[in-house]
Amino acid sequence: MKFIEEIQRRRTFGIISHPDAGKTTLTEKLLLFGGAIQEAGAVKSNKIKKGATSDFMEIERQRGISVATSVLAFEYKGIKINILDTPGHKDFAEDTFRTLTAVDSVIVVIDVAKGVEEQTEKLVEVCRMRNIPMIVFINKLDREGKDAFELLDEIEQKLGLRVTPLSFPIGMGYDFKGIYNIWEKNVNLFSGDSRKDIEDTVEISDLDSKELNTILGDDSADTLREEIELVSGVYPEFDKTEYLNGDLQPVFYGSALNNFGVRELLDCFIEIAPTPRPKQSEERLVKPDEEKFSGFVFKIHANMDPNHRDRLAFVKIVSGPFKRNTPYLHVRHNKKLKFSSPNAFFAERKEIVDISYPGDIVGLHDTGNFKIGDTLTEGELINYKGIPSFSPEHFRYINNADPMKAKQLSKGIDQLMDEGVAQLFTLELNGRKVIGTVGALQYEVIQYRLEHEYGAKCTYENLNVHKACWVEPEDENNEEFKEFKRVKQRYLAKDKQGQLVFLSDSSFSLQMTEQKYPTVKFRFTSEIV
Ligand code: G4P
Repeated sequence: MKFIEEIQRRRTFGIISHPDAGKTTLTEKLLLFGGAIQEAGAVKSNKIKKGATSDFMEIERQRGISVATSVLAFEYKGIKINILDTPGHKDFAEDTFRTLTAVDSVIVVIDVAKGVEEQTEKLVEVCRMRNIPMIVFINKLDREGKDAFELLDEIEQKLGLRVTPLSFPIGMGYDFKGIYNIWEKNVNLFSGDSRKDIEDTVEISDLDSKELNTILGDDSADTLREEIELVSGVYPEFDKTEYLNGDLQPVFYGSALNNFGVRELLDCFIEIAPTPRPKQSEERLVKPDEEKFSGFVFKIHANMDPNHRDRLAFVKIVSGPFKRNTPYLHVRHNKKLKFSSPNAFFAERKEIVDISYPGDIVGLHDTGNFKIGDTLTEGELINYKGIPSFSPEHFRYINNADPMKAKQLSKGIDQLMDEGVAQLFTLELNGRKVIGTVGALQYEVIQYRLEHEYGAKCTYENLNVHKACWVEPEDENNEEFKEFKRVKQRYLAKDKQGQLVFLSDSSFSLQMTEQKYPTVKFRFTSEIV
């Protein structure tokens, strides 16, 4: 197959949702359709179960699983689909944000009863900022939930999306009869628990036809006609270009658990979802069909085995084919590296491959060369940008508990931060190190891994910080900025890239600081460079 055809047949996407909306179940059903797995339950969930928040061994076990399920690839109707797994647990939200830099589109799963939840809002906001094309899947229609129109309103208001339903439910919960597929113009009848079988599909080219009454009954048929009329009156017509630009989001209804509405979603997805998209580097826009390889690291996974301290760096291929045993330039180190055993990912396994194409993810064994955001090329000096770092929610001093192991501790912290486990801030005043995390769970992860992988011991000490703000002065040399640095010295730190950060202790003090120094900007996110 030609290089161009290989690109054209790839779809790389992520599924995002609030925990428990059905992301894992939907992923599994998609794999079933692709024939990548034979039965439901085959894919182990990558999620950290509720109640496991302080069970550390459970996290280690999950880490193992999450390598296996980081990228799930399968073929469907000649299309190569790469699903990038995103951890649902909110303590690992940063991981998810970074993975979103490597997807070309997303599917947002929403629970029909719970509607738009907190985690969905945050993730969709990131996708919106990046104009990532989104398809919404409203799940669990076999249960009683919110009215279909009410939910569409909620999605528009809370998520700031412009939606257009491409399918519509006929009843719900106990009365759930099926789905009218606006995209394919047919009715899919729900026959209860059809975990493995694909549902009955009846072609309905004309909603006014009597056949609709026969299959649904008079009341349901009339209601459906009214609702579809309302849909076409209120919502914009689907337009692929608008969807691809991130300006319009199609909505599907279904029940992942019952394998209902999933085929429709997948069939529409392969038709409309984007092929690998061009990516902006700091220097220029790079197109997937360029002859020369380039890609970037969006995730690093440490080896589970403490005797082998190698790691797996996940590289999204942006342009050109990636070939085994070919020297590529690690731009940040300005050094050529060759990879003798790059991994490609399939549904549940990884395999060494000779060649991979734009849109694909390759896993490269790494002994500490990579950090998140690194670019690889055939020689060109470009840097992909846009892997953001968000203000952590928790802050603690980290102390060395074993003076003989200071070197190991420092190396361990360094590598764990490169992996993106947490963020490190060094106080300007006294050089003390502060670890910032999204969730309290990470402190345990860090402590455990420092001990088991690096032989170092640490303790923590609480620090009262509300938010880390990256400081951006209008002019580094103006008096106002100098005064700010003098007065607030106690609260200033450098992040791992050497950028200045203000650790504010309350939202009130941040507000006061902003007012007092109007020429200094405070940002809650940083782009890792
Ligand atoms: P997540 O990855 O988004 O966190 O969600 P997951 O797929 O694990 O689904 C969360 C729960 O919702 C699971 O039940 C799952 O079986 C259920 N679920 C998913 N899709 C549907 C659906 O279409 N209808 C109904 N009624 N339930 C659905 P659980 O009891 O928490 O877990 P499990 O023991 O079944 O694995």
